[in-house]
Amino acid sequence: MITYNEKLRVFKLDTKNSSYVIGVFEQNYLLNLYYGAKIPDANLWKNAMRIKSASFSPSNPHFPHENYSVDVLPMEYPCNGSGDFRISALAIKNSDGNTVTDIRYISHKIYKGKPSLAPLPYIYLNNYDEADTLEILTEDKVTGVKVTLFYTVFNEIDAITKSVNVKCGENAVDIERIFSSCIDFPAMDFDFITLYGRHAKERCREQRKLAHGIQGIASKRGVSGHSQNPFAALVRHDGTEEHGDAYGINLIYSGNFEISAECDYSGTTRLIAGINPTDFGWRLESGESFQSPEAVLVYTDKGIGEMSRIFHRLYTHNLIRGKYKYEKRPLLINSWEAAYFNFDTDKLVSFAKEAKSLGIDMLVMDDGWFGKRNDDTNSLGDWFVNEEKLKGGIGELVERVNSIGMKFGIWYEPEMISPDSELFRAHPDWLVHVPNREPSIARNQYVLDVSRADVRDNIFNQMYDVISKHNIEYVKWDFNRNISEAGSALLPKERSKEFFHRFILGTYDLMDRLTKAFPDILFENCSGGGGRFDAGMLCYSPQIWTSDNTDPIERLSIQFGTSMCYPASTMGAHVSACGRTGFGTRGNVALWGTFGYELDPTKLTEDEKIAVREQISEYHKYYDLIHYGGLYRLIDPYFDSFRCAWGFVSSDKSEALFTAVIMRRIESGLFILKLAGLDKDKFYKNESDGEIYSGALLMNSGVNLTNIIRNDGDSVKLHFTAV
Ligand code: GLA
Repeated sequence: MITYNEKLRVFKLDTKNSSYVIGVFEQNYLLNLYYGAKIPDANLWKNAMRIKSASFSPSNPHFPHENYSVDVLPMEYPCNGSGDFRISALAIKNSDGNTVTDIRYISHKIYKGKPSLAPLPYIYLNNYDEADTLEILTEDKVTGVKVTLFYTVFNEIDAITKSVNVKCGENAVDIERIFSSCIDFPAMDFDFITLYGRHAKERCREQRKLAHGIQGIASKRGVSGHSQNPFAALVRHDGTEEHGDAYGINLIYSGNFEISAECDYSGTTRLIAGINPTDFGWRLESGESFQSPEAVLVYTDKGIGEMSRIFHRLYTHNLIRGKYKYEKRPLLINSWEAAYFNFDTDKLVSFAKEAKSLGIDMLVMDDGWFGKRNDDTNSLGDWFVNEEKLKGGIGELVERVNSIGMKFGIWYEPEMISPDSELFRAHPDWLVHVPNREPSIARNQYVLDVSRADVRDNIFNQMYDVISKHNIEYVKWDFNRNISEAGSALLPKERSKEFFHRFILGTYDLMDRLTKAFPDILFENCSGGGGRFDAGMLCYSPQIWTSDNTDPIERLSIQFGTSMCYPASTMGAHVSACGRTGFGTRGNVALWGTFGYELDPTKLTEDEKIAVREQISEYHKYYDLIHYGGLYRLIDPYFDSFRCAWGFVSSDKSEALFTAVIMRRIESGLFILKLAGLDKDKFYKNESDGEIYSGALLMNSGVNLTNIIRNDGDSVKLHFTAV
């Protein structure tokens, strides 16, 4: 619900449990008056007046009191060069060549529903009365640039989305910075939670106390990347999973991003999120406009766990699209770790036969099926079948796999090109490059310039040709390097800084065309594991391969970190042949995700086959609980290097599944696990021993696991049903 109080000149944006308040101040500056737990009224003006003697900060000469400065006021969308010395959300170079920017309120609109941000990915509504939107129109009088701030407020989910649109006036301008969201908090007693990583160790939680100055995370890799994820949270120092203020922010964007927090001398915190201004610029000619990516804000006073569950609910129902949003996804086995490049039709068919007998639904043929590819040195861009490997082509393979009763899926890396490929020989200028510099190479490959429509058409047509001719029901979409020497042969030099954003728009366009051409195909995103695990990608693929690291103990910190923002249904997780930890624990960890296999099924022992069948029946049994239940992180490997535990509770709290793992044994350690998320007044049957306990007992006293799991890599599942 959104209201405007004309007398106070205040906008109040209410979700079920939170309020966000914006005020129109003197001289029509927009101030960020409040974001936090729901409040019924909105007279916040006295609290917004932060400090009277600003430290050398200049003041607007028309302010009623010379001590007021935009440098100390809580600014809703702060601009560069006009008196606010903190990080700015917007900087526009005007036709005079300077970057002074200053926007003021002009008018606003409040309406039901939410506008589309296409061609950018965005949160959508299932029903038009699920949310309300506020558009605030502002203007920079000197340049005539119009800036519209968009806010959509959900009624039932404690989330707000924000984005910004800049429209050029009469004279061309260059946007140098455009952030999607800014919030000015009147405090700095926060911890900053971010997700750092690398290949095979993505999205590990990191938590630090905010300090004076600027701190933040960013990517300039051309994609969101392994190193940092476009998510951050601010939580009070004493906040826990179940208690305390937690503010989460996530960008629906897959390109270069920045999320920064700045604490100033007066003890306030500015949190901004958007496109990374480094290597970004956008020329706007008269009448043209630029739309920023969308930021999603979540607030709760019920702790970090509830913040995650809010993101999960929103993404499950309002971000993920297509057939597999709610339809049960096929259980797959992927050939990569089983065979790498070393396969032929017979081998894949033997995988499919064995997998079918175990209860698996789909065989995915990973890298190595096209061009002349037998290793990673060639053929990216040549998306036609390697007939030497797959005699009879894909047609024969798919028919044989289908005749066993298995579905078939395939791997692509569409935005890449090998120097040793027919595509490269035909179009040597189609790679991402800049004049006079030799492009760097990674994994023997260059990046294709998908900012170009002709390049995208070529790749679309090649993919369409293979996919439309065969019964392909799944596509794994990979991206195995980052972008350097970033430029496009088609971009004029005054627009060269537009490249990175144009590249991502090109990727989205290609994904949009393919997902629309093949609405029944399940797409799974991937980038050297989880190097592009972001909310932008989730608009095209409901699941993303979380990490190339399939070791279940290593996976725990990756899955815990990923779950800060992204639901279990999006996390590609497979049982692999990696031997350090037992089969049971590998299955228990992969169950917290899409679940599948990444091993040679013909090499399984009889005992392992029994275990696989059991795991598959559990996968079916718990599918809805894991995909649609609420996640509770009980013991996070960020805090405990010995054990970890998590659980899923159904929305009506009638069923729950908890899993605990011993990562490293502690001698004589007592292990009593306190559960969470249950109804304290309900009674639950522990399905493993038939005993009945109250939710209150299970959450306050716990379950004694001391003699149930003891050794490195042991794990246990606890299933409860309400009686
Ligand atoms: C990436 C993926 C793997 C696999 C290989 C194939 O690393 O993360 O799962 O598909 O590429 O080359």
